[in-house]
Amino acid sequence: MSIESARSDSGIEVSRRHHDVILVVDFGSQYTQLIARRIREQNIYCEIVPFDSDLSHIVQGQHPPKGIVLSGGPESVTADDAPTVNTSLLGSHIPILGICYGMQAVVSQKGGKTQYSSKREYGHAELTLLNDNPLLNGLGGSTQVWMSHGDQVNELPSEISVSAKTKTCPIAACMATDEKFFGLQFHPEVTHTEHGAEILRRFAIEVCGCNPTWTPRHIVPEKVSQIRTTVGSERVLLALSGGVDSCVTAALLNQAIGLQLECVFVDTGLLRKNEVNEVLNQFSKSGALSLNLTVVDAKERFFQELEGVSDPEEKRKLIGKLFIDVFEAEAQKHQGVRWLAQGTIYPDVIESAASKFGKAHVIKSHHNVGGLPDRLQLRILEPLRELFKDEVRALGVELGLPHSVIGRHPFPGPGLAVRIPGEFRREFIPMLQEADAIFLEELKQSGWYDKVAQAFVVFLSVRSVGVGGDQRVYDYVVALRAVTTVDFMTAEWARLPYDLISKISNRIVNEVQGISRVVYDVTSKPPATIEWE
Ligand code: XMP
Repeated sequence: MSIESARSDSGIEVSRRHHDVILVVDFGSQYTQLIARRIREQNIYCEIVPFDSDLSHIVQGQHPPKGIVLSGGPESVTADDAPTVNTSLLGSHIPILGICYGMQAVVSQKGGKTQYSSKREYGHAELTLLNDNPLLNGLGGSTQVWMSHGDQVNELPSEISVSAKTKTCPIAACMATDEKFFGLQFHPEVTHTEHGAEILRRFAIEVCGCNPTWTPRHIVPEKVSQIRTTVGSERVLLALSGGVDSCVTAALLNQAIGLQLECVFVDTGLLRKNEVNEVLNQFSKSGALSLNLTVVDAKERFFQELEGVSDPEEKRKLIGKLFIDVFEAEAQKHQGVRWLAQGTIYPDVIESAASKFGKAHVIKSHHNVGGLPDRLQLRILEPLRELFKDEVRALGVELGLPHSVIGRHPFPGPGLAVRIPGEFRREFIPMLQEADAIFLEELKQSGWYDKVAQAFVVFLSVRSVGVGGDQRVYDYVVALRAVTTVDFMTAEWARLPYDLISKISNRIVNEVQGISRVVYDVTSKPPATIEWE
């Protein structure tokens, strides 16, 4: 193997060549990803770039965007060191939509005024149209919008005029006379804004003239041909985890290069009940999707090293390192492989790009296959790199993967080890797997599995007294955790019906030997995290 750690021809470059692009310039708003997702929902390709990246290069490049959206942000344009809009954007003649901070920044840079306010307006407001504006015309005399701001524009430069107001905000929307700039003080990307999706659609399609070609039907053949061109006749290795991203990566690569793809599935012993068999059923040569799949049985090694470890971070680090060791040893057996495929998706890319500017704080060290590439000297192939999770799922459907794979709840890399808070003991694993399987089975049967974003059992290594038959029992306690969430950054505990919880609890204490009590976790995130460790 030669020493190369270069990424494959970026899918992002290819998407820019094949599709009209809207560029979202990020000023640090918590809603930036939502803007991009709302535009992608209109079947328009869209990318997020930090406000201080090399924008002149993108705007003057071979495939300039057809429109630009400037996001909101936490700063005040009145501050001395406030982030500014790159002048190459303002002079480019590409239509611009400024949202909240994005609107204030353009207005200020063009000579208007923004008034500082330490008080925030947050919530619904009624927008009244004052003048013609192609983004807002015909939406009704007044419409509900979502506000989240402190400062607001109080004076416009001569070439920009007001389009709409709210009770507290006299310039809630504005537009330049040449119709190349639109400003919105409210947030069209938030679903609470009644016609938000329509406003973004009008900007992208009617104002910028984008062609809505970004659909799974278009994306699959494009990706397939891109993968074929990139890897040619070389072989590709993929660490298959059974999660949605790695399964869709496998299905896509399978369609593109068939048996040139070699998959390795590491059985850490920390997986859900029957997970290994489910993956085998789906992906082995006799399964629905015929793959070269090697299952590495590393249970003993993981159990031995984890036995007695209590600290959550220590567990995570140990599992991450062991995983790399096992995978690396396996990879050495696959002589002639030149590529390592990874199921990286767009939010991972955005987060690592944004972290240069943001102040991200590590709450938990997440384990993935990071650290592998350099040591293995393989080139990286990331075919899902520009896709959001819902797009990955749509691609999975297009590739024929069943709902049982596509609708799967996420599962943490360190697996069941972080679902046994405190000291790890291998004897806990079968009890946890059994209880978890009962929980998931009941959720599926009652139709609740698809209504929650994630559900699992946590094994508590405390014992409690109970009665079994006529006898005193002194057995373990488990907690049921089920949450609803869109982005996993915040989450609500799921309001499962009492009868369902009762049925699950009864089944667990009756069917799983060693468990005598079941509790339900009613904590949201924040302040709790979804997992217990
Ligand atoms: P928390 O517990 O941080 O979890 O609220 C948010 C989401 O991330 C998953 N999670 C992980 N995923 N490696 C992963 O790939 C990890 O180490 C890891 N830790 C948590 C968790 O299951 C939830 O979906």
